[in-house]
Amino acid sequence: MSNSLFEPYVLGPLQLKNKCIMAPLTRCRAINGNLPNDIMATYYGQRSGAGFIIAEGTSPSPNGLGYTNIPGLFTEEHARLWKKSTDSVHNKGGIIFLQMMHTGRVTQIENLPKGARVIGVSSVAKSGEVKTYSGERLPYSTPHQLTTEEVKKTIDEYIDSAKLAIQAGFDGVEIHCAHGYLPNQFINTETNTRKDEYGGSIENRCRFVLEIAEKMCAAIGTEKVGIRISPFSYADTQEDGNDLNTLYAYLAAELQKLNLVYLHLSHMGDADPRKFSLWKELRKTFTNTLILCGDFTKETAQEKLDSGEADLIAFGRDFIGNPDLVERMKNNWPLAERNRELWYGNGAEGYIDYPFYSE
Ligand SMILES: Cc1cc2nc3c(=O)[nH]c(=O)nc-3n(C[C@H](O)[C@H](O)[C@H](O)COP(=O)(O)O)c2cc1C
Repeated sequence: MSNSLFEPYVLGPLQLKNKCIMAPLTRCRAINGNLPNDIMATYYGQRSGAGFIIAEGTSPSPNGLGYTNIPGLFTEEHARLWKKSTDSVHNKGGIIFLQMMHTGRVTQIENLPKGARVIGVSSVAKSGEVKTYSGERLPYSTPHQLTTEEVKKTIDEYIDSAKLAIQAGFDGVEIHCAHGYLPNQFINTETNTRKDEYGGSIENRCRFVLEIAEKMCAAIGTEKVGIRISPFSYADTQEDGNDLNTLYAYLAAELQKLNLVYLHLSHMGDADPRKFSLWKELRKTFTNTLILCGDFTKETAQEKLDSGEADLIAFGRDFIGNPDLVERMKNNWPLAERNRELWYGNGAEGYIDYPFYSE
């Protein structure tokens, strides 16, 4: 099979029409009680030209709905409403995974629904402030440290949510273990000071995400479970580089043993050379499909495919303003300007009103 960005690729049982993946993008449009809605279905349908879409970070629990207006997937109603988005994509011949994101300590209690609580691996608050529903920015809440039993219940929430994702018609689920959210909070020594089986050694810090991965594979099938990680891209903390190298090598090896369908490597912002050498190592350890994401252009994406460093490339920001991003790149058509102001919130504007290219 050709290695061009625009040629097909086989991902487990799925035939992707190209190798350009839509990265998960939180857009804060679930404006009525974190429920998926019609404009979201329109938005995803418009982007069905991607090799596959990874839908935005979605919480498997009321406790994980840490940002304003992000969607959930933990009730039958959520599944029913998400079905509109999966149908919209499938009707246009697309493929759609869901990213499962639990914000953990990255929130303010005001953002969570009644009865939910800000939970953490340890009782360590994140520094800084977060936008709340009143529009005001407030300091992050100090999280309640999960008991060992509550950790296990949280893992079960992920599994129940994954089953609902399949019921909702998603082709698979991506576990969000990147960017400082809950599984990443277990991995990191600054957020994890636990003394039980989920804290301390590398094996213990990886246990949370590996138990999720293992149980999720058993529940919905290995070919439907991918994972996203971001070594060295956790902006809050200064982790020890050697520890991280060893940790991610261990994690990648365990994920390969579980036979997850893909590993998605994300980096944000700077081009820390340590990331790139670690990526190459992880590529050797994790031999199933590898996706890279972060600051790629059509040209640099093709270079990574040619060098064998990646199988697929995910694009984030450019999919916001270019619903037909793949066609634009393929035909060398110009890309729309990025408009950061409309990334989060605002309803249909800056969401479903970006035109397809016409010459
Ligand atoms: C508006 C916005 C929302 C994002 N939401 C998520 C998210 O929900 N989950 C996630 O893993 N990454 C998220 N990201 C990161 C993107 O998936 C991607 O890694 C990043 O944009 C870098 O890729 P790019 O250079 O192609 O844009 C978000 C980025 C942006 C700009």
